[in-house]
Amino acid sequence: MSNNQLDKKSSAWSALFSEPMSELVQRYTASVSFDKRLWQVDITASLAHAGMLAAQGIISTEDHAAIVRGMQQIWTEIESGAFVWKQELEDVHLNIEARLTQLVGDAGKRLHTGRSRNDQVATDVRLWLRGEIDAIAELLTALQTSLLEVAERNVDVILPGFTHLQVAQPVSFGHHMLAYVEMFSRDAERFLEVRRRVNRLPLGAAALAGTSYPLDRKRVAKELGMHDEHGAPQLCRNSLDAVSDRDFAIEFSAASALAMVHISRLSEELIVWMSQNFSFIRIADRFTTGSSIMPQKKNPDVPELARGKTGRVVGHLMGLITLMKGQPLAYNKDNQEDKEPLFDTVDTLKDTLRIFSEMIGGQLNPASGQKEGGIVVYPQAMEQAARKGYATATDLADYLVKKGLPFRDAHEAVAHAVKAASTHQVDLSELPLAVLQQFHPAIEKDVFDALSLRGSLNARNVSGGTAPVQVRAQIAWHRERLC
Ligand code: ARG
Repeated sequence: MSNNQLDKKSSAWSALFSEPMSELVQRYTASVSFDKRLWQVDITASLAHAGMLAAQGIISTEDHAAIVRGMQQIWTEIESGAFVWKQELEDVHLNIEARLTQLVGDAGKRLHTGRSRNDQVATDVRLWLRGEIDAIAELLTALQTSLLEVAERNVDVILPGFTHLQVAQPVSFGHHMLAYVEMFSRDAERFLEVRRRVNRLPLGAAALAGTSYPLDRKRVAKELGMHDEHGAPQLCRNSLDAVSDRDFAIEFSAASALAMVHISRLSEELIVWMSQNFSFIRIADRFTTGSSIMPQKKNPDVPELARGKTGRVVGHLMGLITLMKGQPLAYNKDNQEDKEPLFDTVDTLKDTLRIFSEMIGGQLNPASGQKEGGIVVYPQAMEQAARKGYATATDLADYLVKKGLPFRDAHEAVAHAVKAASTHQVDLSELPLAVLQQFHPAIEKDVFDALSLRGSLNARNVSGGTAPVQVRAQIAWHRERLC
């Protein structure tokens, strides 16, 4: 076959067509500009398919050897940048197959026996996504470790805990960090659960109905690592479903959107905490930018961008789920639109996780073996802020309950005390004992222990609570889990 013939896209489906595609339609339908990213998994899956075809006697061992040789060369060509991608060959699959045939002749043409691009692309996307999930899981571990390190150093630092962004009760800053560790650990769990459903083999479904060749699907699944934890091969069980549904990509996208939402909440807090009115923390200069007009500015661009990019990842979830809606069985070209949102989701999430691990936990300095340049915490500013909003009012109510008052009565008495204190612009702990006793006679000298921030913290010694002894126990538990 001449090169010229191979270059013509019509070579993929032959004589039926009486006119060539216009350049616009070609550009509109081609996906190679973005799906070439799948080249490694495409070759890997093709080699597994070819090995099985040979083992089953469907192609000869000579043809198999030629396919392996050709694919090795193509791999090198793509890696070195020498491979010429052609839009007229539409997608990654046809580009690689055409080059294979150019290199090894008829053996290349036999590769597609018992296969369709429909089961091929579904296999490729699954294999690619599986690898990305593994990378994301590692990045999530790194981010959790960074947060855990900050938590460890700040167990005894007191932060005003907020509800409705109003000072509520004092909490340990370490405890606050652990809340994010919990969120990201659930994200990691979610990705692992999605991975199980991603890691199933569509090949063998062919175009939609299966194939008449005696394929050994289990062999291909095993070869591609598509098995469960006991080594049992995982196959898509229904050929129509195998080529058509992209629910695995939608699930992945939903898990990514949630992870980004968690990052976005953290971003919002970092932004607030580093504003002048709070000054609770500082992040390293390399994650901030200046202003072109206001010389004093250091803007938290990285957390702001992460918050903004969350919108884009959530948007991809909407795009993918809408893509599926209304598609009849089985494969439809709509599905080609799954790739760009998926790729962008993976890129955005991975970059964000990487940058956050470093921004929070710092960068390893090989000379000292220490991480440096993570977030800097200002305990005094946090504690001062906690003193402002009557953060220990609940503790006074609890104190009265321990003296025998029903909680609702205690709540009411303390409300009066807070009102009086705020009129005089002092904290509850700054009211003289005699004044406090006007709100309830049961109040005695020991009330001041309850009114201290640290006393309040220590008192929340329930499992999952913010008492430093509990926070230390939680840190130890996470350490064990993450190691
Ligand atoms: N590029 C296509 C995609 O991404 C490959 C499958 C094409 N199949 C087809 N019958 N046109 O979905």
